[in-house]
Amino acid sequence: MEILHVSAECYPVAKAGGLGDVVGALPKYLNQQGQIAKVVMPMYRTRFLYTNQWEVVHKGSSNLGNWNFEFTVIRESTNVLGFDLYLVDINGLLDREKIYGYDDDTERFTAFQIAVLEWVSAWQDKPDVIHVHDHHAALIPFMMKYCYKFQHLAEIPSVLTIHNAQYQGWMGWDKSVYLPRWDTWQWGMLDWNNQINPLACGIKCAWKVTTVSPSYLAELTQNSNGLEALFEYEKGKCVGILNGIDVQVWDPASDHYLNNHYDIESVEKGKSASKKLLCEQFGLDPAKPLISFIGRLVGEKGADLLPQAIGDSFYYIGRKMNFLMLGSGFPEVEAALTDLKEMAQRDYNVYIGYNEALSHLMYAGSDFLLMPSRVEPCGLNQMYAMRYGTVPMVRSTGGLIDTVLDMGETNGYGICYNNASVGDITHAIWRATDLYENQQKLQALRRRMMELDYSWEASVEQYIQVYKAF
Ligand code: ADP
Ligand code: GLC
Repeated sequence: MEILHVSAECYPVAKAGGLGDVVGALPKYLNQQGQIAKVVMPMYRTRFLYTNQWEVVHKGSSNLGNWNFEFTVIRESTNVLGFDLYLVDINGLLDREKIYGYDDDTERFTAFQIAVLEWVSAWQDKPDVIHVHDHHAALIPFMMKYCYKFQHLAEIPSVLTIHNAQYQGWMGWDKSVYLPRWDTWQWGMLDWNNQINPLACGIKCAWKVTTVSPSYLAELTQNSNGLEALFEYEKGKCVGILNGIDVQVWDPASDHYLNNHYDIESVEKGKSASKKLLCEQFGLDPAKPLISFIGRLVGEKGADLLPQAIGDSFYYIGRKMNFLMLGSGFPEVEAALTDLKEMAQRDYNVYIGYNEALSHLMYAGSDFLLMPSRVEPCGLNQMYAMRYGTVPMVRSTGGLIDTVLDMGETNGYGICYNNASVGDITHAIWRATDLYENQQKLQALRRRMMELDYSWEASVEQYIQVYKAF
């Protein structure tokens, strides 16, 4: 089968979070299972663009409301990623340094989706499935059904994967003119609470909806930023499929970001060498347990709770541990984490920003990884951590429920807690320091985690079942 993935991110081309990792890996593993999976995404001005080979495969033009635009589709010509990658260039609109965060994001991603459908319209043999990811691509199933010029694509099954239902791409009804002429009887498909809601529209119009873990799907009917009733209504066509991780990219035995490679046999040596490097770089003490956080500094990740939880831990547990934070996001959280440096001195450090190389070294060199998420559709960090022998400290929610078993359970390995609260995080930190004092137990847990299999194979099989059922 031929599956075209449409996404705003794809690692290593452009990544802001886990969406990029998933879209960079899933098609590769689908291809390894005998499918033909391709990815199309916007052409941003990223390093990958300038360091790879491209050929033009299509040129076209279309309209966004009254604005006529030209677009070009280019293809990476050496198959360096293990799947065909196509980039859509819309001059002035997409070719920017950042993926998101511009005032005209609505226009950018709407034009991108229109251009994708114009291009697919020109394919001689159409794909068997169009698989769209998150709200940036979620208007496509609607356009294939109800925009007159794309209705010849209506028979192609569409799948929407929801990586994060918090962001829905809301736009005012004045923006409806951006869509190519559509059947206005169907306005209800676009609408949710008097706005155009691309994610809600995708849920209504896609043939099948998947979420990135089963537990997250169960939560969405209770808590999905206003879409609860819709998830309840559409639950018949929704299925939760747990993400995998790309075990070729995330492998401590060959990770090209690491100087000290290790496997399950050499984990203690490898981790302590990486920890030493990290501690030297950030002025920390390698003799103490190192507890890290990596992620977007937003409410969903519970990052705002960390400054107080860390302060409380020093106060109640003592200066027995070190902390290292990596992330960027809300300025007030960035500021609070930075301010903590002065109080915490040699036991704490923070790197504000995005740093792929540092993240890999942190998964390798940390003893523990904190994830106090309020919402976590799947979460990849905990799976990376475990593959690198680092104990995840997770709030039991969404995909974290499906991937981490508390060390108090039979064959457990992680530290789990129920609430995204300062108290629960501080208690988890106490459990971590306690575990660190029992090196024999910690070492056994590391080996247990490294034996777990979170590779894509099982999940890819479930996606193939979804495609084959159409
Ligand atoms: P989300 O997609 O919600 O941000 P995930 O756990 O699915 O959460 O994936 C986050 C991905 O982004 C991981 O690969 C993580 O290592 C990476 N990441 C997040 N923040 C940073 C950062 N500041 N620097 C480097 N990598 C980061
Ligand atoms: C989203 C979610 C995250 C998930 C990722 C990949 O960004 O927040 O939990 O792991 O997508 O599906």
